[in-house]
Parts: sequence; structure tokens; C-alpha cells
Amino acid sequence: MESSDFHHSLALLDWQIELGATEAICDAPVNCYDLPAAAPGQPRRAKQTEQPSAPAAAPKTPVEADGAAQAREAAQAAQSLDALRQAMAGFEHCALKKGARNLVFSDGRPGAPVMIVGEAPGRDEDREGRPFVGAAGQLLDHMFAAIGMGRSDENAPVYITNVLPWRPPQNRDPSPEEIAMMKPFLERHIALAKPKVLVVMGNISAQALLGKRGITRLRGTWTEAHGVPVMPMCHPAYLLRNPAAKREAWADLLDIRARISAH
Ligand code: URA
Repeated sequence: MESSDFHHSLALLDWQIELGATEAICDAPVNCYDLPAAAPGQPRRAKQTEQPSAPAAAPKTPVEADGAAQAREAAQAAQSLDALRQAMAGFEHCALKKGARNLVFSDGRPGAPVMIVGEAPGRDEDREGRPFVGAAGQLLDHMFAAIGMGRSDENAPVYITNVLPWRPPQNRDPSPEEIAMMKPFLERHIALAKPKVLVVMGNISAQALLGKRGITRLRGTWTEAHGVPVMPMCHPAYLLRNPAAKREAWADLLDIRARISAH
């Protein structure tokens, strides 16, 4: 086995373990390539010697095409944050749900003046079912605690969610289709949480809420989305990799605090 095959296979195994596929279902392993051809009418398994056909551009299935419309309907019907959480938990059109352990809906205090919108759950968030609990989340907590806005107390002035409630496999960036499908839920989330200020963390959130990327240019300048003032900021994961950018993030935090104090 080539070393690249080995590492590729190991990464696939790791991924399956992360998804929770840790139980063997037979006593002995089955080599799918040795199985006899399927009976007529049954689906055939690919043989190793067969030439894979060129991957056709998958036409949108009715389920995919319908997803955003169904999301809009389900989101609009939700009259409270609890109802919205339930609607999202019952939404079956986004394939990310199948690979995720938990729905990551929100944390902090519903109704808080500051609503932080991150990108998507990572491994730690997927395990705990809460946004921003891994390394980036710890930095986020330190940043907001430094301006007197910790998330854990009863009167926490922050409420936290993500563009996507399910972890993308291997932490890949969410696709534009996934973002578009889930966006009605995010918009309804904002309408129901009624924040005074939105903090958009990173490029994916900027894309979803402002229709733009380029967060290092956008950060630090107030803008608006859905009638709410928005402060775009560099994502804490970016700040962990680029500590020099923390200085600008600090300026953004002070701006947020000043805006909230002025209300
Ligand atoms: N990064 C995000 O954008 N959101 C999380 O919940 C965790 C990491």
C-alpha cells in the first residue's frame, strides 16, 4: 500500500469514528469487492476492475431544490426560539444533519443585546451541542469577558449562534448551497432573538448575512443586516493563527461595548 493510500484510509477511518461508526455489525469483515454479482433487479456493487463512469454533474433532486423553500416555511411558522429549535431539529433536507451528532442551536441568553453569529460547529461543538466551546470558543469567551460580556451569567449580554447548526464533515467550509438552504432559519433566529447588535464572525457569516466575503477588509466598520446594526469581526480561529490581528479585534470589541452602552 502506498503511503498516501495509507494516510487517506486512516483519515477516512478517523472520520467514521468521529461520526460514531464504531460498532462492527458482522462477526467477520466483508470484502465488498469479492461479493458475487447481484441478482437481477438488485443494485450492483462496483467491482475493483470496473472503470468508474465519469461523475455526472448531479442534477438537483426535488428534495434539494425544495430544501430552501421548506426551510423558509418551517422557519416562518416558528413563533418562539424553542419552536425554531424544534423546527430545525426536525428539518431533514440538509445532508449535514446525517453526519452530525448534535444540533448546535445557541448559547448565552436569548434576548441579549449582542448576538454573535459564528460559522458552523466544529468537533467539540458537535459533541456538546453548544456553539463555540473549543479553542476558538475559549478565545471568544475571553474576548467578550474582557469587555464585561461573559456568556454564562444569568444576565449575560450575549447570545451566540452559527450560520449552520450541524458540523460539516472534517470541518470543511459549508457549501453555498448549504448556507442558502439554512439561511431562512438564521434570519428567523435573528428576528426572534431581537438583538440590538449583531456580531458577524468570519467570512462564512459575512457571506451569509452581508452577501460579502473579505472579512479582514470588512471588519471594524458598522453596517446593517435585516434592520440590525452589524459589526463584522475576524473569527477567533483566525485570531489564534494570527495573533497580531488581536489588536484590531480589541478595537472592534471596544466599539461594540460603546454602542451597547449608548443604548
Ligand atoms: N467556530 C464557529 O464558527 N462556530 C463554532 O460554534 C465553533 C467554531
